[in-house]
Amino acid sequence: MPAISFQSISKTYPSPKGPKGTTFKAVDNVSLNIEEGEFFGLLGPNGAGKTTLISMLAGLSRPTSGSVQVLGSDVQSDFADARRKLGVVPQELVFDPFFNVREMLRIQSGYFGLKNNDAWVDELLEGLGLADKANANMRQLSGGMKRRVLVAQALVHKPPVIVLDEPTAGVDVELRQTLWQFVANLNKQGSTVLLTTHYLEEAEALCGRIAMLKTGRIVALDKTSDLLKAASSNVLRFKTADMLPPELAARARITGRIVQLPANNALEIENYLAAVRQAGVTVDDVEIRKADLEDVFLDVMNQQGAQA
Ligand SMILES: Nc1ncnc2c1ncn2[C@@H]1O[C@H](COP(=O)(O)OP(=O)(O)OP(=O)(O)O)[C@@H](O)[C@H]1O
Ligand SMILES: [Mg+2]
Repeated sequence: MPAISFQSISKTYPSPKGPKGTTFKAVDNVSLNIEEGEFFGLLGPNGAGKTTLISMLAGLSRPTSGSVQVLGSDVQSDFADARRKLGVVPQELVFDPFFNVREMLRIQSGYFGLKNNDAWVDELLEGLGLADKANANMRQLSGGMKRRVLVAQALVHKPPVIVLDEPTAGVDVELRQTLWQFVANLNKQGSTVLLTTHYLEEAEALCGRIAMLKTGRIVALDKTSDLLKAASSNVLRFKTADMLPPELAARARITGRIVQLPANNALEIENYLAAVRQAGVTVDDVEIRKADLEDVFLDVMNQQGAQA
């Protein structure tokens, strides 16, 4: 039985542009099974439909069509069971400012009918670096700390399926590492994890399988290692302050002075460098590196753009 099963699920919203009454599909006929014990990544640009998909999974938003089950429990017809099996860390920070951290976690435990949950609450506070903030009021916490509380809140009932919607947005490096250690450990012990993030390095390091979403549709779905294998194998990277010739600029990923060009073989790299020399462009810090998930992501998104 899959941990999470989306079946031909769609969500239609009123269209912000176009005449009144027109609609668009934020999620467009997505079918996807995530197996028990997987660490699964859901990636996609802003507005791709990741949070919409997760809202339907969490039962916070009703699918326009299709269905979703958590470990066999249908989110619509069997909400209480589905909800109990699921821990969701939402993208948006929403809190009751009047409670302190420990109270919040106690209330959440009570919501799931858990008494004597203090040992696990302490473990969560410790594991997420919140122990010294246990008695702090929610509004006294910084943004990153609030996000840690959201994570603790999602895990309070030890759900077998954990969903994290951009849990590391605005979180400092140290906590990112603590958080990932904590979640990876839960995954090792058998929890299924579904993660969305814009930090592709994190996704590459953590996720065994990845789906990429664009305008509500799955445009890539594979093991992380296979996605990486299918991409151009290498990237030529250099710095320059000069204008690139247009045929290179069209293929390059340019960030300030850094230029990165996908290359499948040594000949392509030679050709790039020859073109640069011919154009009289001065380059610095030349290096060749293996393609990473960010390269794959950009490849997939661009291909899909060209077809659309
Ligand atoms: N309640 C709503 N009413 C109307 N449109 C909505 C609503 N919620 C989301 N949308 C639209 O649905 C699309 C998908 O939004 P969604 O929040 O799922 O994207 P996302 O992939 O989570 O993006 P991000 O990476 O920015 O979090 C967007 O075009 C968004 O404007
Ligand atoms: Mg989102």
